[in-house]
Amino acid sequence: MASENIIEEKKQGQALVTFNKEGNNKKLFIESYGCQMNLNDSEIVASILAKEGFNTTPHLEDADLVLVNTCSIREKAEQTIRKRLQKYNKVRKINPAMKIGVLGCMAERLKTKFLEEEKMVDLVVGPDAYRDLPNLVKEVESGKDAINVILSKEETYGDVSPVRLNSNGVSAFISITRGCDNMCTFCVVPFTRGRERSRDPQSIIKEAQDLWDNGYKEITLLGQNVDSYLWYGGGLKKDFKNASEIAKATAINFANLLEMVATTLPKIRIRFATSNPQDMSIDVLHSMAKYDNICKYIHLPVQTGSTRMLERMNRQHSREEYMTLIDNVKKIIPDCAISQDMITGFCGETEEDHQETLSLMEYVKYDFGFMFAYSERPGTLAAKKMEDDVPLATKKRRLTEIISLQQTHSLYHMEQFVGKTVEVLIEGNSKKSDAHWMGRNSQNAVAVFQKGNENIGDLVMVKIDSCTSATLIGSRV
Ligand code: SAH
Ligand code: F3S
Repeated sequence: MASENIIEEKKQGQALVTFNKEGNNKKLFIESYGCQMNLNDSEIVASILAKEGFNTTPHLEDADLVLVNTCSIREKAEQTIRKRLQKYNKVRKINPAMKIGVLGCMAERLKTKFLEEEKMVDLVVGPDAYRDLPNLVKEVESGKDAINVILSKEETYGDVSPVRLNSNGVSAFISITRGCDNMCTFCVVPFTRGRERSRDPQSIIKEAQDLWDNGYKEITLLGQNVDSYLWYGGGLKKDFKNASEIAKATAINFANLLEMVATTLPKIRIRFATSNPQDMSIDVLHSMAKYDNICKYIHLPVQTGSTRMLERMNRQHSREEYMTLIDNVKKIIPDCAISQDMITGFCGETEEDHQETLSLMEYVKYDFGFMFAYSERPGTLAAKKMEDDVPLATKKRRLTEIISLQQTHSLYHMEQFVGKTVEVLIEGNSKKSDAHWMGRNSQNAVAVFQKGNENIGDLVMVKIDSCTSATLIGSRV
């Protein structure tokens, strides 16, 4: 369970690990804001720039090049990044040779405006243009501004092996799709990340195998909408209808991909995010049930419990259809944890709609949730066609209500583990104490327990003695 602030705190900012290759003599400071895909993209960027002589540094003051991978999902995310840019510019006063660039969604959304209005950056690169970084950086080093915000039909960075900046050496991200075709009316992602395309399954398997060979124990397959994964030889998902009969007959969907990864690497733990209710198939649920190494956890954002609001959001399913999907999850994978994303105060949301959200939450009893007040994004259909008419105070009050209900449900789920023994993958020290390990069970619940002679990366059995709404507290059995 988390409110917006908690998530942002947890996921944002600097890399955990620095990258050092002998012979490289330039220094890159890179930070990521927003989703897990951005963290992974920054690892791709660091990999591309490693070939251009850059090592990463944790010290902003030392950097030759500062890059910030940006998020546009809510206005607040963009404000946070503007503040970071101001900070970089302050540091630049001490180190005038420093070059500053923006990557990711805000780069794509604001394009040349960054160079024209802000004068705070030298380099603007959209999410599909990272391969052009070597040329763009050379231009910047010669004193010019540089920009590439072209969105691509094919780019998946399938052959780029990311340097692992955001990893504890135990779990790592693998991107499997890029872009989104769903066009939810509130969402800026289709505009900033372009149309949906899937990555070659062989390159995904190879990356997973390399991670396993290097001691990693868990992978998370990433996409805006993983259930929509479809490999038919490359190209946009929307062009699949024009593919050859052979390509159609041999296409690989997400359930197939899950099975391929689960059988090739039967000991690696597999997670995935994000699932979209309209695209999640029964086959995916059966694949999850069939393989022990696929974690029993689905992040299944719904945004609202009201069919009327779902329609306005262009979510392509009703409240009832979503409930049927939840019934199927519970039937096929009885021990599966489910989490949500919710938005309060979307255009036209009434008190009845809000009550429908609360009652849907009661029906599903989510294990975790990520909840937000609606933030209008320029260029989206909602911004163009609908009125942002719910007062901020109402959005916030409804948000507080759903967060509070989620907390009750999270605690309920955590309590179900008390007295039971669960399998935990050790990720590192507990935040609060070096004498305790922290890890997660299959359902993605965080567990802490007293250290013995285990190591990071071990899968161990832990008996749960007590809990809070966010943490299981246990001991080794
Ligand atoms: N499919 C994506 C969703 C990306 S956005 C994924 O991989 O997670 C993540 C969440 O941000 C959404 O599910 C939604 O709840 C929230 N969100 C998106 N646009 C928003 C907006 N304009 N205002 C508030 N929250 C928003
Ligand atoms: Fe955004 Fe909807 Fe896609 S929330 S990322 S347009 S599934």
